Amino acid sequence: MRCLLLLFAKGQDLVSWFGCDLFIILPMTRKLTLEQELQEMRDTLRHHEHLYYVEDSPEITDAQYDALMNKLKKLEEAHPELVTPDSPTQRVGGKPREGFVKTAHSRPMLSLDNAYNEEELRAWDQRVRAGLPASEKVRYVCELKLDGLSMALHYGPGAHGSSHLERGLTRGDGTIGEDVTTNVRTIRSVPLSVSATKLKDAGLPQSFEVRGEVVLPQAAFLKLNEEREAAGMTPAANPRNAAAGTIRTLEPNIVAQRRLDLYAYFLLQGGETLLPTHSGTLDALKTAGFRVNQHAKAVATIDEVIAFIAKAEPLRDSLGYEIDGVVIKVDATAQQRRLGFTGKAPRWAIAYKFAARAGITKLEDVLFQVGRTGKVTPVAALTPVLIGGTTVARATLHNADEIGRLGVRIGDFVSVERGGDVIPKIVEVVEDKAHPRGTVEIVFPESCPECGSELVKAEGEVDWRCVNAECPARLREELLHFAARGVMNIEGLGDAMVSQLLTAGYVKGIADLYELKKEQLLALERVGEKSAQALLDEIERSKGAPLVRVLFGLGIRFVGERTAQLLAAHFGSIDALMAATAEELEAVNEVGPRVAQAIAEFFAEPRNRALVERLRKEGLTFTAEKRVTTSTLEGLTFVLTGTLPNLTREVAKEKIESAGGRVSGSVSKKTSYVVAGEEAGSKLDKATSLGVPVLDEAGLLELLERPAGA
Ligand code: IVH
Repeated sequence: MRCLLLLFAKGQDLVSWFGCDLFIILPMTRKLTLEQELQEMRDTLRHHEHLYYVEDSPEITDAQYDALMNKLKKLEEAHPELVTPDSPTQRVGGKPREGFVKTAHSRPMLSLDNAYNEEELRAWDQRVRAGLPASEKVRYVCELKLDGLSMALHYGPGAHGSSHLERGLTRGDGTIGEDVTTNVRTIRSVPLSVSATKLKDAGLPQSFEVRGEVVLPQAAFLKLNEEREAAGMTPAANPRNAAAGTIRTLEPNIVAQRRLDLYAYFLLQGGETLLPTHSGTLDALKTAGFRVNQHAKAVATIDEVIAFIAKAEPLRDSLGYEIDGVVIKVDATAQQRRLGFTGKAPRWAIAYKFAARAGITKLEDVLFQVGRTGKVTPVAALTPVLIGGTTVARATLHNADEIGRLGVRIGDFVSVERGGDVIPKIVEVVEDKAHPRGTVEIVFPESCPECGSELVKAEGEVDWRCVNAECPARLREELLHFAARGVMNIEGLGDAMVSQLLTAGYVKGIADLYELKKEQLLALERVGEKSAQALLDEIERSKGAPLVRVLFGLGIRFVGERTAQLLAAHFGSIDALMAATAEELEAVNEVGPRVAQAIAEFFAEPRNRALVERLRKEGLTFTAEKRVTTSTLEGLTFVLTGTLPNLTREVAKEKIESAGGRVSGSVSKKTSYVVAGEEAGSKLDKATSLGVPVLDEAGLLELLERPAGA
């Protein structure tokens, strides 16, 4: 019966997709098993994802796509045993995590040397030619320099001769990256698997590595910043920072909402460039289903490179994502090898950087904003001016020192620069006949513009702060920060709601949120039964947020999401954290004296201790899984291959890492152990041929349980 229904459902899909009734009479000649049916639905979804996210040319509407996706989800829910990890439904499968595991790159991810003008570019061309035999022709490939962050994607053997995404690593320090696989899987232009046919067409083996750039499109960036501002959070400075922050977010759900994109530009195997030319690599990547930037061109002379740059620069404002230059690479892999590397960068590539975009406008006024920590920031109100396609009306003046350094007055004309940054910078005061000086001195206020209390500047710091813990501006910012997306995620507690709650006097601090009554909410403007209940539900739900979020939400100075993660993992509970001395706090990786002091000061304050106690009574989460670090595997490198009987690859890796060991993707003479499970492939062969010891899961566990030094 089910089978019949499915066949009917399939017929309907065809009708709705092609909008053509003729398909209804197409007989279903094949009887598919449920498994085959699911596989076909997945292939169809993949095909449409590729058209949408990679080719930018969808053939079906979003609603049609959603309908099929929902159907697949329902079927998979009914038959969980048939779910495959590369199913389009599994992009956001991961749970929030406590941290990322560090993993070595197959070969270092280098940066590029820069050229800022034609002369420097021609000098580089000369160096390239001088490094190669005079008889050899040199071809270059010009690509846009995408302003994002680089990423390594590792693919390994999947079912039926396909490849599947095993791992996504950030650049990290270039040698060791962070394993952000769960987040990378949410990027729709990253294929979760590449079919055997595509591999064959592209000439790829089943195991390979793709490197590319993750970018946050401008539209997604603007939306993100609107949300952050609405939630009272500092906007991200530029799409690159926002992309980097997003990829390191511990909640894959949030990452999935952000719509990151990945453009592929390298193809490696075992750390070596796979194909004989870079232009061929870009073609192969495209054939395999990766997104490759369309503005790439192979040329034969440096003059053509310069012509490419001249055409690329004006594209900046219409691309929809940020670029900050052009990357030029020697096309032939053999020539790249011969040219080699200097320290941190290859000799066979260079980045031509565009100049920052600037404009001149008038400083109309200076506003003083009070932030969550009481910091007062001067903000320049400018006569709106168009810079590189964006209207700029505000610029940060950072602090009183910056105003002094610039010597700027109200009424001055100033030169404003917009890099990849969303908050433009005032570079200098412009003074000539057309731009006379302003006359009004900027006076930094002595008292808080919101509550009137005296501003304070701590020794050795540049910022003036309002230290009145009850300052309404601070309280507002505190609440907005606590509720924000990415913090406690309390939907419906934005600007307007927080202002109303404060004005009505229902809320005087974070803990009061948990005592709100429905009648109170109903008494507010534009709040109906439904939205009141929704907000109360959201607040209730937030009690289940993990310790990391609560710590982040408390708004301790210098404790951002990352530090909160480290603290939660290290101390395991708020009690242990509150009891920690500055010295113990500094023992946490990445926590310096400044941060340690801020945390200690925060918890020394009776008001904050009382807040913690009230939140505890309300039932918020104050414990986390503690990560104990022993150092029994210090200095050892492991390679995992095949399927282990009990541990997932991720868990095995985490265990090794937290014991001080390293996990690498490829076997070499330096590998200490290969941990092999069922269906271990070429890595096991290589280990055997190199004489690297091989462990099974039990062997690994034994090693992990061995006391340090044994
Ligand atoms: S090639 C060793 N190609 O620019 C080769 N990089 O300044 C390095 N980038 O770390 C990478 N677009 O994050 C390459 N088309 C492109 C790029 C690109 C942006 C970034 C990349 C790299 C940085 C170097």
